Amino acid sequence: MPKILDGAPIAAQIKQEVAEEVKELARRGVRPGLAAVLVGHVPASEIYVRSKVQACEELGLYSDLITPPETVTTEDMLDLIAALNSRDDIDGILVQLPLPKQVDAKVLLDAVDPAKDVDGFHPVNAGRLQAGRPALAPCTPAGVIEILKRSGIPIAGANAVVVGRSDIVGKPAAMLLLHENATVTICHSKTRDLAAVTRGADILVAAIGRPGFVTLEMVKPGATIIDVGINRVTDPAEFEKFFAGNAKREAAFAKRGSVVIGDVHPAAFEVSGAYTPVPGGVGLLTIAMLMSNTVRAARMRRGL
Ligand code: GUN
Repeated sequence: MPKILDGAPIAAQIKQEVAEEVKELARRGVRPGLAAVLVGHVPASEIYVRSKVQACEELGLYSDLITPPETVTTEDMLDLIAALNSRDDIDGILVQLPLPKQVDAKVLLDAVDPAKDVDGFHPVNAGRLQAGRPALAPCTPAGVIEILKRSGIPIAGANAVVVGRSDIVGKPAAMLLLHENATVTICHSKTRDLAAVTRGADILVAAIGRPGFVTLEMVKPGATIIDVGINRVTDPAEFEKFFAGNAKREAAFAKRGSVVIGDVHPAAFEVSGAYTPVPGGVGLLTIAMLMSNTVRAARMRRGL
C-alpha cells in the first residue's frame, strides 16, 4: 500500500513555526504585512485570496485586501503597485492571477519590488533562485520541497522528473530539486517517449494542468508522486474514466456535479511508494509557504 503524504499536518506545522516567528518579530516591534490584490470577481480567486487573508489573521500577520474593479487598467494597477512598494507596513505583495485581459500581467509582476515579491514571480527572484542566491521562491514549488523533506523522502541523488515547465511551478520546482542535489529532468509536451522518461523517476512531480495525465504505465513501482494539479472535472464521461467504482467520489460527483482531480490518474497512485492526494496534498502547503515567504521578506527587508 502506498503511503499518503497528507498536506494538512505539514501545513499546520509550518504555520505553527511561522506563528512563532511572528511572535518573536512582535517582540522587536515588527509586524509582517501582506497586501493581497484581487481584481474583479473570479470565484476561484476569491476563495484563494480569502484563505490567504484568513491565514494572515490566524498567524498574526497584518493584511490588506485591495479589490480593484474588473475594468481596472494596467496604468491604475501600476499606480497601486508603486504605492504598495513604498508602504513600510507592507512586506509582501500578492497580485492574484488570472488578471482581466486588458491588464498586462507581465508588466505588473515586473513592477513589484523584488524584496516584496512573496509569490516569487519576479524575474529577479527567478534569477536569484537559479543562481543559488537567497531568493523568494514560488510558494507551490517551495511546498513540494517541504512535503518531501518533512516526509523523510530522500532527495539527494534521487532521479526527479518534473512534468511541466511553467514559470510558476515546473521550472522553479526543478531548480529547487536541483539545489537539493536531485538529478533533475524536465519534461513537456514535446518530450519524446514521455513514459520512458517518467518511469526513471524516483520522485515524479506532475505539474502540467491536465486532469489525470500521468497514467499507471508512466510510473516506476515504489516511486514518490507529487501531484501539483488542481483540475475540476464536470463531464460525466471524463469522471467515469477516472473514478468509476469509487463510491466516495461518485457520491461527491452526484451531489455537486463536479470533482477535483490532480494531474495524476488515480490508478497510478496505486503502484507508487508514496503520493500526495488531490485535494489535500500540495495545495494546502501553498498558503503556508506564502506566510513563510512574507515573514522572510519582512526579516530580509530589515536586515534581520
Ligand atoms: N493564481 C493561482 N495560483 C496563484 C498563486 O500562487 N499566486 C497568485 N498570485 N495567483 C495565483
